[in-house]
Amino acid sequence: MSTAVHERLVRPARNIIGSLRLPGCKGISHRYAMLGAFADGTSRFTNFSTGADCASTLVCMADLGAKVNRSGPGSVEVTGVAGRVTPPTHPLDCGNSGSTMRMISGLLAPQTGRFTLVGDTSLSRRPMERIRKPLEAMGARLTLTDGHAPLMIDGGPLRAIDYTTPVPSAQVKSCVLFAGLQTAGITIVREETRTRDHSELALRAFGATLTRTSDSVSITGPQSLHAIDAAVPGDLSSASFFLCAAALFPGSSLVLDSIGLNPTRAGLLDVLTALGAHVAVLNIEEKHAELVGAVQISAPPEGLGSTEVSGALAAQLIDELPVLAAIAPFTSGGIRIRGARELRVKESDRIALVAKNLRAMGAEVAEFDDGLDVPGGQSLHGAQIDSGGDHRIAMAFSVAALRATGDTLIHGADSAAISFPEFFDLLDQVAER
Ligand code: S3P
Repeated sequence: MSTAVHERLVRPARNIIGSLRLPGCKGISHRYAMLGAFADGTSRFTNFSTGADCASTLVCMADLGAKVNRSGPGSVEVTGVAGRVTPPTHPLDCGNSGSTMRMISGLLAPQTGRFTLVGDTSLSRRPMERIRKPLEAMGARLTLTDGHAPLMIDGGPLRAIDYTTPVPSAQVKSCVLFAGLQTAGITIVREETRTRDHSELALRAFGATLTRTSDSVSITGPQSLHAIDAAVPGDLSSASFFLCAAALFPGSSLVLDSIGLNPTRAGLLDVLTALGAHVAVLNIEEKHAELVGAVQISAPPEGLGSTEVSGALAAQLIDELPVLAAIAPFTSGGIRIRGARELRVKESDRIALVAKNLRAMGAEVAEFDDGLDVPGGQSLHGAQIDSGGDHRIAMAFSVAALRATGDTLIHGADSAAISFPEFFDLLDQVAER
């Protein structure tokens, strides 16, 4: 196969101007697909994620007995199995998607039967011990390969647990809640750092009852779910690339319509504001308890300042940190990131790859076990970028490339399709050259 299709040349831009509507949130689409497939009745979703990750979830749910019909771009109908899946005779292929593998495991562990879950090379390197522990404490049997996928679940009726997640992970929390939904008794998940609550809101949207405190979620099982009709909010993580791009150009003006603004996800807007960008949120609505609104951004005439992202904010912003780090050289005072060790076990080691690619573009950067220091006041030159096949690295450095001198070649640019197949086309729409 030619490598040319996997590469993308990104030319510098003069400004970012325009208005865009983005495809649906990946995290919400995964959850709606899983819970719709598990519910009783036919759910209809619009603005469903166009990314390959959510397509993996849909294929897995169809393999488990749900009827899935993609009736148009972003339109998906899912007829659920009413709480009882059919164990497939072949492995469930989760592709590149950690969300698929970890959250589906929670749905399957209480189901009688054996399920094998596999993924691509990147997913097969990611830690799965974090879901084995709670699911085994509930009575399921999970066989991993050296702590990783392929993983085999011998499922059956479970017992409720009270579990404290050892790392901030919405996927682990969701996995335990999805198992608790089907398990007699009260399952409690406690987390020291509050992670995104899409699963809690989605469970409620599909008719489940759960109780939340500031640091715990409890679900009393078993409960059944009913189908819903829902419009998925635009993806804030996809939006982050455009927001950061616009923040780089004094005179920029960008509006992103119908973006998901769930407060457990929207930390980037605060960080961009702290850096001096002018950010306004308009027309806020609620859709199945998820906040949705338009985001308007323009860059300050004097350029961006400096900031630090650490602690709970780092966990909340985890998917947006690569692009923040990639624009940090263009700030005046730099960006310091700490408390983000989880970045090392994403689709790639994102701390190492961000540092490597910033250096390739001529920047100075200090790498730490749990973060990065990127000094400000630097200029970047075009370079060859190693995305490591990681969608967020490919897109983050396409944004940095807009303010570099000279062209930048993104290797593995096709990986953007994991979450955001339209990325490069939309970037060309708003980048003035
Ligand atoms: C996600 C949670 C995060 C995030 C991932 C999506 C989710 O992962 O990085 O892209 O939808 O719950 P962790 O749960 O591993 O932190």
